[in-house]
Amino acid sequence: MLLLSGIILEYKKGGLLRTKSIDLLDLTPETNPEELVAEIRQSEPLITESRADQVKHLIIRLQQKQGQQDHHRFITGSYDRTCRVWDTASGTELHTLEGHRNVVYAIAFNNPYGDKIATGSFDKTCKLWCADSGKCFYTFRGHMAEIVCLAFNPQSTLVATGSMDATAKLWDVETGEEVATLTGHTAEVLSLCFNTVGSQLVTGSFDHTVVIWDVASGRRVHTLIGHRGEISNVQFNWDCSLIVTGSMDKTCKLWEAVSGKCVATLVGHKEEVLDVCFDLSGQFIATASADGTARVFNATTHECLVTLEGHDGEISKVCFSPQGSRVLTASSDKTARLWDVQSGVCLQVLEGHTDEIFSCVFNYEGDTIITGSKDNTCRIWY
Ligand SMILES: *[C@@H]1O[C@H](CO)[C@@H](O)[C@H](O)[C@H]1NC(C)=O
Repeated sequence: MLLLSGIILEYKKGGLLRTKSIDLLDLTPETNPEELVAEIRQSEPLITESRADQVKHLIIRLQQKQGQQDHHRFITGSYDRTCRVWDTASGTELHTLEGHRNVVYAIAFNNPYGDKIATGSFDKTCKLWCADSGKCFYTFRGHMAEIVCLAFNPQSTLVATGSMDATAKLWDVETGEEVATLTGHTAEVLSLCFNTVGSQLVTGSFDHTVVIWDVASGRRVHTLIGHRGEISNVQFNWDCSLIVTGSMDKTCKLWEAVSGKCVATLVGHKEEVLDVCFDLSGQFIATASADGTARVFNATTHECLVTLEGHDGEISKVCFSPQGSRVLTASSDKTARLWDVQSGVCLQVLEGHTDEIFSCVFNYEGDTIITGSKDNTCRIWY
């Protein structure tokens, strides 16, 4: 299901395109990517020097990646090359979206409508599906490498895709045509986010930079330079005035969307920041780190309000409840935890998964939690 536990290499042999899959079933967030690549290369001569770096980035990304959901259904991308749609209430499978020729790595509903699904794959294509029938409307072709992130714009007229080919692309949902290629990054585009009115897109890259794009023209508006490590996540706040970025350099930065100026650096984490997000009101920022803690910051004063301590492993994902009073974290310690934002007290430990949890989300109402784990299951908590 949500398991993203391998890499499929494509290579040419005798004029034929062949694939070779490498299982990474033992991959954990604690795994040292450098060491793992060295280990893989010993048994896989296909991985040349130039591919090795790419594989390392894939591994790092695999250590972070999560699923997404809508109000009543959630979707999971898989190593088995399918995307599945599940009913949140019953936990039953509604559809299996089959057609990709490689790992389905990035998935999204066109919330708040919820009638379309986009899937991004290591097969370099993005597919647009009908959420109700499971029918494929379009296959978007054009990226030269794996697609690793995607999002619908708020109007649900465009899909943005980010790729290992260092570009992002915009696609027209109605016509299935490519609208723009956003070029400028010099390394993989690993995260992207539209602002809430859909006028700008922000992309985060392994080149350590973040770029703000004008969606209508496809032009680069600002390049946000300052992080000293790969960008793990990017997000606009509700009123589109600020962007928060998390980085492997152990910090988060806040940037003014209009000027592209860095207004604050959020420090305190002792290891890489693996995820960062605003609450819906934009008052708080939550951060998740490889140091096993999550933090909540005042988005105005940039002061760390509370450190959420208790997990026994890396935290790869953090999110606020829709009401903003709770924070949910997912960890390699096989638990997800629910925290009170004000006091920092852990209210609940969600135990049951038998392997690391990569993903956690609230439903729209905030009364249901879905977690996805490397144990091949998703669990629904009420
Ligand atoms: C953030 O700090 C400002 C200024 O001290 C304060 O007015 C505001 O209430 C704080 N917000 C939160 C969410 O703590």
